[in-house]
Amino acid sequence: MLSDKIILVGFMGSGKSSVGKRLSKKLGIRLLDSDTCIEENEKKSINEIFNEYGENAFRNMESELLNKLFLSKDKFILSTGGGMPCFNDNAKMIKKTGVSFYLMSSPDSVLERLKNDTTRPLLQGDDRYEKIKALMSKREDFYREAADIIIETDGKTVDDITDEIIERLGEIS
Ligand code: S3P
Repeated sequence: MLSDKIILVGFMGSGKSSVGKRLSKKLGIRLLDSDTCIEENEKKSINEIFNEYGENAFRNMESELLNKLFLSKDKFILSTGGGMPCFNDNAKMIKKTGVSFYLMSSPDSVLERLKNDTTRPLLQGDDRYEKIKALMSKREDFYREAADIIIETDGKTVDDITDEIIERLGEIS
């Protein structure tokens, strides 16, 4: 079944990891986090991978992981890195792999969640808000292309979002 594979996409700080964890508990389906899988494979942090190998190499790692998961027969929830749908043919691959949800957040709520973050190489330095807005508007179409269902997250708790996903899953299966 297509809904044996649930994929969460969206911008950094949109809640994919927290919602993925809660969803995994509620549905009893294993959670995979693409960043964690890559960090474990490489035995390096995302910051180290970007610094030592560059962003392109990281994007190739993401695509390779996605291709492997597309072929996998296992059930899983995949929490994707915020750039995954925006490179190579990943948006199409995500859609073909399972049921995908775009967790949509405003730049303000992303800034609020990530204002002190040091783990996202693309958001370091000054003008974090401007960086978020610019990157988000470049990426919006990819997220929409990758997603079967869009869930707005502003003003909602992790539980609200999780329950909404479960409700929408019930409608399609
Ligand atoms: C990235 C998002 C990050 C991580 C890397 C690049 C991006 O994941 O993959 O820092 O390009 O948006 P999260 O969305 O889990 O923060």
